[in-house]
Amino acid sequence: MPRGAFTLSLMLLLTLGSSDQSPATVPRTSWKRQDVNLYEFSEPGIFNYTTLLLHEQREVLYVGAREAIFELSLRNISVKNHKVVWKVPDVATEVCTSKGKSKETDCLNYIRVLELSDSHLYVCGTHAFQPLCDHLSLADFKLEGRQEDGRGKCSFDPMQSFTAVMVDGDLYSGTAYNFLGSEPIISRNGATQSPLRTEYSTSWLNEPSFVFADVVRENEGGDEDDKIYFFFTEASMEYDFFSKLLIPRVARVCKGDLGGERTLQKKWTSFLKAKLMCSMPETDFVFNVVHDVFILKTTNWRESVIYGIFTSQWDNVRSSAVCVYSMSAVEEVFSRGKYMQKSTVAQSHTKWVRYNGIPPSPRPGACINKDIRQQNITSSLMLPDKTLQFVRDHPLLEDAVRPMDNGPRFIAKDVHYTQIAVERVPALDGQLYDVMFMGTDKGNLHKSVLYQKEVHIIEEVELFPNSESVKTLVMPSHGAQFLYVGSDSRAVQSPTAFCEKYHMCEDCLLARDPYCAWDRGAGACVNILQEDRSRGHLIQNLQGNADECPTGQNQSTKAYQQLWVKPGGAVKLPCQVESNVAQVVWTVNGSVLQERSPPYQRIAEGLLVYGAGPEDQGYYKCWAVEEADHRNFTWLLQSFELALAKDHLYPTTEDPSVFTVVDVGFTARPVPTFEMPEPTRLVLTSSVSRPPGDQESRDKELVPPQYLESDRGMTLLLTFTLLFLLLFLVTVSYNCYMQYLPGPCLRARASLLGAKKPPQSEYRSCEAGLVDNVTDQHQGLPKGPNGVQKVGRDGEGMSGVVQEGSGAPSPGVVCQSPHSEKPFDIDSEGQPIEYADADVEAP
Ligand SMILES: *[C@@H]1O[C@H](CO)[C@@H](O)[C@H](O)[C@H]1NC(C)=O
Ligand SMILES: *[C@@H]1O[C@H](CO)[C@@H](O)[C@H](O)[C@H]1NC(C)=O
Ligand SMILES: *[C@@H]1O[C@H](CO)[C@@H](O)[C@H](O)[C@H]1NC(C)=O
Ligand SMILES: *[C@@H]1O[C@H](CO)[C@@H](O)[C@H](O)[C@H]1NC(C)=O
Ligand SMILES: *[C@@H]1O[C@H](CO)[C@@H](O)[C@H](O)[C@H]1NC(C)=O
Ligand SMILES: *[C@@H]1O[C@H](CO)[C@@H](O)[C@H](O)[C@H]1NC(C)=O
Repeated sequence: MPRGAFTLSLMLLLTLGSSDQSPATVPRTSWKRQDVNLYEFSEPGIFNYTTLLLHEQREVLYVGAREAIFELSLRNISVKNHKVVWKVPDVATEVCTSKGKSKETDCLNYIRVLELSDSHLYVCGTHAFQPLCDHLSLADFKLEGRQEDGRGKCSFDPMQSFTAVMVDGDLYSGTAYNFLGSEPIISRNGATQSPLRTEYSTSWLNEPSFVFADVVRENEGGDEDDKIYFFFTEASMEYDFFSKLLIPRVARVCKGDLGGERTLQKKWTSFLKAKLMCSMPETDFVFNVVHDVFILKTTNWRESVIYGIFTSQWDNVRSSAVCVYSMSAVEEVFSRGKYMQKSTVAQSHTKWVRYNGIPPSPRPGACINKDIRQQNITSSLMLPDKTLQFVRDHPLLEDAVRPMDNGPRFIAKDVHYTQIAVERVPALDGQLYDVMFMGTDKGNLHKSVLYQKEVHIIEEVELFPNSESVKTLVMPSHGAQFLYVGSDSRAVQSPTAFCEKYHMCEDCLLARDPYCAWDRGAGACVNILQEDRSRGHLIQNLQGNADECPTGQNQSTKAYQQLWVKPGGAVKLPCQVESNVAQVVWTVNGSVLQERSPPYQRIAEGLLVYGAGPEDQGYYKCWAVEEADHRNFTWLLQSFELALAKDHLYPTTEDPSVFTVVDVGFTARPVPTFEMPEPTRLVLTSSVSRPPGDQESRDKELVPPQYLESDRGMTLLLTFTLLFLLLFLVTVSYNCYMQYLPGPCLRARASLLGAKKPPQSEYRSCEAGLVDNVTDQHQGLPKGPNGVQKVGRDGEGMSGVVQEGSGAPSPGVVCQSPHSEKPFDIDSEGQPIEYADADVEAP
């Protein structure tokens, strides 16, 4: 892409912030921690549960944390099978602290590599900035003490980006090779093949931030080599920009690489990298920071797809984008793309431009495949120097990897996704749906799926109590029942679906969750991947067409919940809908209720009827209305029969509580039923007030009219008003007495108490002081902890005091009292501050 165009797109980016581009990204359902059963694991004093490894055959989850490794049960991660502690010896801690690192945070052992290799785990930790690896025997879960230098395999700094993958016994890492973290490296270490690394050159890696690495098996019968892909964000070298420009990249190396014979000895001969494009085609809005990648692998590697989550380098737009790349597009760029070349312009300035010549043969950076073997080159050691020199100097390809559909698959506003996992789910319609699970920096999990190019966020799960960021997300390969999430404080196991939480067929279908279907026989929403049911009974409609639900079932058992209310009293009709995009509509005696007018008040938990009279008796129904498939679907949530309590029925206690409710036959979860005489799908005439997902505004409406209820209420109101007036008068008088209030008050005070000086002159001196102090006060004063300037005795001749702790630095008090001889002490507490408000007006 020409540089001009790129700069232009960045200009566009800076203006895009306000434009409304993306569809609504409100999760349909939000599960709070208390709503759902999450298993979790943490131990006191142990933090940073950020390295997770699944072992499905053994049904365990390995967790690498700070100074500890755990083996947990996959079914219930609260169950700890084993633990091993790996601390740093005092000597190593001292070396670390002597280099200026913190003993409490840096100079500890953060486990960052946990990889399975044969019958043991290969484990590496930062080990007080001296990375170290060891083998952990799975049989007895003990470190074997076969320690190895971890340099190039694991980062020194626990805060630095890092990625690693174990492939056939060799560890491929993207990390930094030195203490300072300034020497980035992509390396291979292991028993089976020779160690290899990247050249130390900014053309190869330029301040990279590694996010992910994985292997793609392409070796089908010896024709091709397996490839290891690395994903990272690095500082651009190909674009001139007024500040550091970040570029998301994919790089790859070949598993069979052995390095060069003379050129590129012990270095990759197959290292190539390309830009990952993720920008909106219409506006060129650029998402240039990649945060995580998931490769959804298929039996034919060419059909595998890469999911990446991106944000923009410029934080003014808090949006995340998901871009999806086909493996064949990536392969195409690496095997046929043009190279970039560094050239010198105007003697000193270097610039990357497209290489237009004919590259040497075999193609630089290519894996040793069948074609190259036919040229009698059977390993990278036999590659000609020309090819090797070329690839050393041209590691960057000009062609970028373009996303499928040429743009982000979707953009989520006001969310920062940090982790992604994808599962391909076979739905009942015979199609496959890629369900995306994404962790956010606020500790939520979003489950999304794309229908007709529109994203549908099925649900959001609150994972942690403290809104911390999701650091790691792993999911078993097929038909996963749970996924596992790591954060700084704990590991959490969350179900992949919450079908059983949808109690009604409409809710189950409108969730549009490929995992869930309504079982007509059982009358329940079930997980189709887990339950081995006869599929004939199941209803699933991913467009959300809830008309497929059986209507009027069990009409005979129409059960109104009976509620009594004392005449003049208030009663709450409980009714809630889980869906964030549904609206609640009430009907009474069959017609839509205007909830806003008395005696009704809509509250979050239902409907409040207050000051109840005989005319308010009747049949109340609570409906949910939700839009899907370009239609509105309505279903019944609750039915109530409200009646006035007769005196002899009503317990005659003098209960002062506002809500005088007597429930008869109230069950904890009343079974909502459909009633015969009324149409099940009702026609709505009134507009519904609540915008989708706007829980807050709805909550704000609900000021319970508590004191309007009765005469007693009126009395209370009157009492409060009087009390308030009294308090106000006292305050005014006090402030006036203390000379806090200007003008008429001071005159009144003077006439009452007999002031020594006329107050007007006091104010004049005060004003003069204000002017003087404002001009020289703000120079060279020490800043307080809140950025508030402090004035102490040192501020010579100044008698001002700035109030502290109020946050906003007020213009300050700068008025000299005619009586005071000494400057004010900074410790103003307890001492009266005269004329504390600077914005006094001279009378
Ligand atoms: C999970 O394990 C914890 C700890 O042993 C236990 O308290 C809890 O009951 C288990 N949960 C289930 C559903 O088995
Ligand atoms: C480890 O966890 C602590 C406590 O939550 C956190 O403050 C710190 O930043 C974490 N360190 C790393 C390297 O993630
Ligand atoms: C490869 O080597 C074989 C025997 O060593 C030779 O006959 C053949 O001509 C060579 N092919 C090429 C392309 O060099
Ligand atoms: C209808 O209600 C009866 C009695 O409550 C119950 O046994 C039956 O399973 C219900 N049928 C359906 C289809 O829900
Ligand atoms: C409902 O109908 C009953 C009798 O049919 C009537 O007394 C009552 O006032 C009605 N309720 C409302 C709120 O209109
Ligand atoms: C559904 O109902 C809402 C509120 O009454 C309305 O704004 C919306 O246009 C309706 N949608 C359709 C497709 O009828």
